[in-house]
Amino acid sequence: MAKGNVSLSVIRRLPRYHRFLRELAEGGVVRISSGDLSKRMGLTASQIRQDLNCFGGFGQQGYGYNVKALYEEISKILGLGISRKTILIGAGNLGRAVTQHMDFSARGFELIGMFDVNPELIGEKIGGVEIYDSSYIAEFCEKHHPTIAILCIPKEAAKELAKVLVSHGIKGFWNFSHYDLAIDYDDIAVENVHLGDSLSILCYRVHELENSDEGAPAEK
Ligand code: NAI
Repeated sequence: MAKGNVSLSVIRRLPRYHRFLRELAEGGVVRISSGDLSKRMGLTASQIRQDLNCFGGFGQQGYGYNVKALYEEISKILGLGISRKTILIGAGNLGRAVTQHMDFSARGFELIGMFDVNPELIGEKIGGVEIYDSSYIAEFCEKHHPTIAILCIPKEAAKELAKVLVSHGIKGFWNFSHYDLAIDYDDIAVENVHLGDSLSILCYRVHELENSDEGAPAEK
């Protein structure tokens, strides 16, 4: 699996393949052609073949793809088989929503603690996970060795907190704060999430649709 050479744009499509394949497998579909898969996903068949060829193919001429096998391969590529200890900082509206609605374990993450500066929240449990005082973060990290942090805190707090977290072994951030952490670290994986960016893309696409006879540009 030549993962090191694969472009991030291909990697970014993998969770979508994974989701579609899981739904197909749950619906009892055993195999699928790249043509069928492309119709369901709104990608071209050649795009799908190109993407999957980056990892060695998986398809067979005249057979297509074995849904379960491909699903399992993509799970492996995404590293979903390994459980990564995760902490969440900022147990406010967003932190609670993320905790309650995200199936972490299905994606290879184990949420082991939440942290907040608000004394009123300390000791509360959300989805069975306890909220601790933020002053306990360093000690908690030394004891439990989480490698992933989810930041649901205001922008102003993110930069300094990230430094502390990196110095205590955090290797990846799922960053909802509006501070762009990726600019500070080369050796740390950062996924900045901006729901507003997604909304702006929707705005662009609707605008294009309104101003063109050909319809909105296809999602890639
Ligand atoms: P909120 O005010 O309900 O929750 C924020 C929580 O963070 C509070 O409980 C607060 O006590 C805690 N906090 C503040 N500083 C902290 C620190 N240094 N250490 C630990 N905890 C700390 O706010 P909400 O609605 O949950 O939003 C959180 C942040 O996420 C906001 O800054 C907001 O702008 C951002 N946001 C980002 C989105 C995105 O798409 N990236 C979408 C929605 C919100």
